[in-house]
Amino acid sequence: MKVGIDLIHFATADYYLGLDTFAAEKNIDVDKFYIGIGQEKMSIAPPDEDIVSLAAKAAGPILDQIDPNEITAVLFATETGVDQSKSAGVFLHGLLNLSKRCRVIEFKHACYAGAAALQMATTMIRANPKEKVLVIASDIAKYDVDTSGEATQGCGAVAMLVTESPRIMVIEPGSGYFTDDVMDFWRPNHRTTALVDGKYSTKVYLNSLKQTWDHFTDQTGKTFADIDYFCYHIPFTKMSEKAHQTLAKKAGVKLTPEEFEAQTLPGQIYNRLIGNSYTASLFISFISLLDNLNENIENKRVSFFSYGSGCVAEFFTGVMQTGYQSALMTAEHKAKIAVRKPLSYTEYLNFYHQTEMVSENIEFAQHNKGPYRLAGIENHKRYYQKS
Ligand code: CAA
Repeated sequence: MKVGIDLIHFATADYYLGLDTFAAEKNIDVDKFYIGIGQEKMSIAPPDEDIVSLAAKAAGPILDQIDPNEITAVLFATETGVDQSKSAGVFLHGLLNLSKRCRVIEFKHACYAGAAALQMATTMIRANPKEKVLVIASDIAKYDVDTSGEATQGCGAVAMLVTESPRIMVIEPGSGYFTDDVMDFWRPNHRTTALVDGKYSTKVYLNSLKQTWDHFTDQTGKTFADIDYFCYHIPFTKMSEKAHQTLAKKAGVKLTPEEFEAQTLPGQIYNRLIGNSYTASLFISFISLLDNLNENIENKRVSFFSYGSGCVAEFFTGVMQTGYQSALMTAEHKAKIAVRKPLSYTEYLNFYHQTEMVSENIEFAQHNKGPYRLAGIENHKRYYQKS
């Protein structure tokens, strides 16, 4: 049975902070960001944007193309949960007016949860081909001001409709996975920002890649040469370049600069402009690949390396389907990035501190351009609006 991604669409915030502005404020050479970590801009969420409004913006254009009542499950992956009990997916379910005959659950393990949700969705469909599962990966990456992580913030949400006989990509059975109990990046319950041991986290990321590759090749018998394009979890694009160098070396493959670029560069373009979006970032990389390639990649194989600090990682592959281009939403994606408004460093800090406010009753000023927004909190209950 062929199971995989039938439709895929992403959303990001309406604002960004340029790393040129950031560098000037901090008196740091901008090339540290443009070249050293490979980032140009970070999408910044205003106070009336959260993972639910981002997810709704990601899912809306998919629902416009299908009968939303056909969705049998919503699997919502995030590490920026808005409630310790209620799934973010149920807020989304209400906002999108989905059928009551639907199950909803939130998935968490750092940046890995989106891949876990996608794998779970394919398993559900293989068990019952009538299932149509909406997989969401939505996150807002936030670190303390004046820490090394501050330059690697960002936000985004990806919605994927996972079905039998998908139009875009079949996810192949068999993957390599790896778990190790480490403290490279974490966010205790009392904090709104993540803590990170930055340099250590990059080492654990690369070790996890090698471990999942060994397991993947054992499980599937596939080799580096069987894969045409490589998508990685992208906290910053330089990390995915280091990952690809590490993987090629491990596989004993010598790539020309042109081959290296062709296999990874199109999958970095959006991430370079959006910043880290945690669990969404791997799938934004996949969308970036699809939207920015000049050639037709029908029947080509794409790999995915998902890395969630803490840590859980998985390496898996999918095959592009005939006619996949007609299902892409390239123009919408490019417009979302292009229409964002730049923030000054002070405006960014205002948004930053307002999103820290936890309040029993608050009505948010409208910054988010819609069509979905977090309107306020009343008696500790979040309420959303559709314009
Ligand atoms: N011109 C060109 N390059 C420059 C430069 C300049 N003027 N100045 C510095 N650089 C280079 C450095 O040489 C360095 O390159 P290498 O990594 O190749 O050595 C790079 O820019 C970064 O410089 P530093 O190491 O000095 O930067 P830093 O101390 O500020 O830390 C970081 C970088 C650790 C990634 C930090 O941004 C951070 O902590 N980020 C958050 C954690 C993170 O993203 N970890 C990734 C793995 S974990 C994960 O993937 C999960 C997740 O999503 C968080």
